[in-house]
Amino acid sequence: MAIILLLLLAPSLAAADVFCDNVKAIATTLSKNAASSPVHFATKTFGGAPNVVFALGLCRGDVLDGPACGDCIANWFGKALNRTRCDKARSTYGDCIVVYSAGDDILAAPSNTTGAYGDNTPPFQQWNIKNVTTGDVPLVVGLVRELLVETAEKAATTAPRLYATGVMDMARVTTYPKVYSQAQCTPDLFADDCSACLRRLLGMVNSTMSLRIGGQMAVTRCYFRYEAYRFYDAQPMLILPSPPP
Ligand SMILES: *[C@@H]1O[C@H](CO)[C@@H](O)[C@H](O)[C@H]1NC(C)=O
Ligand SMILES: *[C@@H]1O[C@H](CO)[C@@H](O)[C@H](O)[C@H]1NC(C)=O
Ligand SMILES: *[C@@H]1O[C@H](CO)[C@@H](O)[C@H](O)[C@H]1NC(C)=O
Ligand SMILES: *[C@@H]1O[C@H](CO)[C@@H](O)[C@H](O)[C@H]1NC(C)=O
Repeated sequence: MAIILLLLLAPSLAAADVFCDNVKAIATTLSKNAASSPVHFATKTFGGAPNVVFALGLCRGDVLDGPACGDCIANWFGKALNRTRCDKARSTYGDCIVVYSAGDDILAAPSNTTGAYGDNTPPFQQWNIKNVTTGDVPLVVGLVRELLVETAEKAATTAPRLYATGVMDMARVTTYPKVYSQAQCTPDLFADDCSACLRRLLGMVNSTMSLRIGGQMAVTRCYFRYEAYRFYDAQPMLILPSPPP
């Protein structure tokens, strides 16, 4: 019995080991290349079928230090790989974004059948559970929306990093704190693709989620975030005063 089990498990264990070794090889290259890239971005394909790994690493636009970027990616892989077997696909969205997958070519060029860069998978999203309750709620929700749309356009047109931050000051029209925003695409996208990627995400924000005081959404090649407090270091790149009443 034990022998039969062992025989059944052996091929898949071996395959997992090859895949795991490929992911480990990618971890080293990706963190090194992202650290030395002027836009802190790297992609890598490694291994042969069926254990080929596709991966990308990107640091948030306000992580200016190359070694800090490389460390972020290396640390994430360190944690992700600290298990007996590798997952076939993993992603993270924090100070650095790392995505890897087995077989599914996340690095393929955009195609009009699958959407922006083959990315038709559900987005990562995380929302504050609190709703906007102070101030003129529909007005606040509309101004946050405007901030996000403008931040997305700013990111798409801010080469070479395709990264933008913004702030909306609503003091003239309602009592609500300043709202801070951030958007970024992988820097290998054309402005139009970046803009389309972010608009697709913003299009998924429904009337329930748009009431939330903060949130973030991400797919492989773009993300946005907003909060009612400042969550990045540098001065906002886009300063939007609300229109006069
Ligand atoms: C790896 O996992 C072990 C056991 O769960 C833990 O003790 C160790 O700190 C982990 N190492 C890293 C680098 O996360
Ligand atoms: C997809 O894009 C190609 C090249 O731009 C175009 O020729 C084709 O008609 C498009 N297909 C669809 C279904 O939109
Ligand atoms: C936020 O608003 C939604 C929709 O009106 C409601 O269902 C939900 O309970 C609210 N959440 C909180 C934490 O009040
Ligand atoms: C709004 O989007 C959230 C997150 O994707 C989803 O869980 C929820 O069901 C949606 N609500 C409506 C009313 O469509």
